[in-house]
Amino acid sequence: MCSASLGRAVLPLLALAGLTAAATPYAPQPPPLSTDWTEDVGTHPWPEYPRPQLQRSQWQTLNGVWEYRNAESAAALAVPPFGESLDTEVLVPSCLESGLSGLQAQNTIYSWLSTHFSVPDDWQDQRVLLNFGAVDYEATVFINGERAAFNRGGYFEFTVDATDFVNFGDDNELLVFVYDPTDGEDAVIPIGKQTLNQRHIFYTPCSGIWQSVWLESAPKEYITKLDLTADMNGEVTVIVHSASGNGDSVEVKVENGDETIASHTANADEHFTFTVDDVKLWSPDSPNLYNITVTLGDDEIRSYTGFRTISKGTVDGIVRPLVNGEFRFLFGTLDQGFWPDGIYTPPTREAMVYDLQLLKDLGFNMVRKHIKVENALFYRACDELGLFVIQDMPSLPLVEPNADQQAEFARQLEVLVNQLKSHPSIMSWVIYNEGWGQILSTNPEFDLTDRIRELDPTRLVNSVTGWYDHGAGDYSDNHHYANPQCGTPFYSSLSSPYDPERIGIQGEFGGIGHNVSIENLWNVQAAIDTIDETYELDATLEVWNYRSRTLLTELRDQISRFACSAAIWTQTTDVEGEVNGLMTYDRRLKRVDEQQWKDDIESLYRAARGRGETPDERVSDRGVLRY
Ligand SMILES: *[C@@H]1O[C@H](CO)[C@@H](O)[C@H](O)[C@H]1NC(C)=O
Ligand SMILES: *[C@@H]1O[C@H](CO)[C@@H](O)[C@H](O)[C@H]1NC(C)=O
Repeated sequence: MCSASLGRAVLPLLALAGLTAAATPYAPQPPPLSTDWTEDVGTHPWPEYPRPQLQRSQWQTLNGVWEYRNAESAAALAVPPFGESLDTEVLVPSCLESGLSGLQAQNTIYSWLSTHFSVPDDWQDQRVLLNFGAVDYEATVFINGERAAFNRGGYFEFTVDATDFVNFGDDNELLVFVYDPTDGEDAVIPIGKQTLNQRHIFYTPCSGIWQSVWLESAPKEYITKLDLTADMNGEVTVIVHSASGNGDSVEVKVENGDETIASHTANADEHFTFTVDDVKLWSPDSPNLYNITVTLGDDEIRSYTGFRTISKGTVDGIVRPLVNGEFRFLFGTLDQGFWPDGIYTPPTREAMVYDLQLLKDLGFNMVRKHIKVENALFYRACDELGLFVIQDMPSLPLVEPNADQQAEFARQLEVLVNQLKSHPSIMSWVIYNEGWGQILSTNPEFDLTDRIRELDPTRLVNSVTGWYDHGAGDYSDNHHYANPQCGTPFYSSLSSPYDPERIGIQGEFGGIGHNVSIENLWNVQAAIDTIDETYELDATLEVWNYRSRTLLTELRDQISRFACSAAIWTQTTDVEGEVNGLMTYDRRLKRVDEQQWKDDIESLYRAARGRGETPDERVSDRGVLRY
């Protein structure tokens, strides 16, 4: 080494620049089960523009191969490895536990992740914004050796104003410290189905940067967030949030193709409304969307909306969910959003949309996004396809939180609603699933329901889906396997009888299973050993489809006779040791007899429409109820 001639100050720099070992090159690890998209991921994952409801033209993705080091403990945060090469290359975005990350690691509680980026010289007079789609669970962000931001919450986007930290036209170092205890270290935080201790319905956790990271430039004064909804009367309700909060003038234009069909000028940071004439409404049958352009000074962003109204009302004596003023039966699946190769991160956008397209093709008009939050392109796909979304808040572990943990849960619930509330496809929010993390002594679901209604008066609230219902919210929700008990006067175990003051929904049913050969199974022995915990295992696909028809026929009867307004079938796909999907975990085998399912789902809607007819009209010539 030639260090003799170098001064003290230069030595560490030299060490940083060249003397640390290079990171082990990235290679995906073979997951316990692959998908048809595993090989498509490559080293430039998720290249799509990530934020469809607030688009700017100047952006660059930071997705790709980064470097990773297990930071071992919280103490590591005091000594960030600035300028060092870390141990192993890693794919971003990915869950560190996934094969696609290149690590397929376990117990990644403390992590360092780093990359380098350049900022174009011509962004010089602009703001430079660094966006993260989601980092599970806490992220401390350093840019060029300076601490730039901290974020808590594993499912939510955040933006760092990087302007004062970056070098224009030059190299920049981005270093992120991630802390993710999942359900270890006595943590009681929103985790959904992730656990360090996997068992049957609880799955592999996700740690790290699992959604897109990207840079954009914006003018000095810029739009930080757009809240925009539009209803069946053509009324558009808007708040344009600005960085300064000064309430500057903004213009909102509604477009149809190349034509501007309405424009309105108002002030940023204030709630305002205006009306558009003759709009085509959004519904699952005709998911009409309109482009929106919003201008604030030099900042111009693109967005979109759909005109529709979600409400509840009494139809023929029964409280119903109304879509554009009319009752329509809503039928969806429990949609977990887990992938064998990417865990929480779908391998590609095509893979993600494949699931939704299958549901749409079978005739479902809804998904229940189950205790997980997806990237914005998922909700955009639902907006475009015409699939309603019931959006769950990711649950806490199955313990009662203390006061601080409850306050943080409530804070993140607000973040969830604020992040997603401009998507036309979302029709309901869920606070608690089956009592998980639900404090039973004080019933916090009442206050939380009120808070959601303040933040978003345009949707229904399913305060408690399954188990401990105390009367909060818009739904009377039963979970029952395998048979439905939807809006019925009969019930069992932890569920409640149908409450006629609210909408009757079967928040979960089905769950019937069918084992498959090892090529389509999550090949982890501990998971395979729990397959017999599935509610029911049917020996063949023919029997599984026979049983499906039986359960959907029961549901249809309940729609005809009782007060059943919506239902959720468990579930879209198998997940790890659960073999009860419409298709297997790898999406390579469809269990559904597609024509049979299409017919049966259509008969649910027909039964609901038949509720408008008198009993006489419904009795056919042969004297039997027809559907
Ligand atoms: C919205 O804008 C996009 C991109 O410019 C265009 O492809 C799409 O057709 C537009 N949609 C409507 C409904 O005008
Ligand atoms: C399911 O199938 C796998 C392999 O195909 C087998 O190892 C396992 O024992 C089966 N489990 C049950 C409950 O049938």
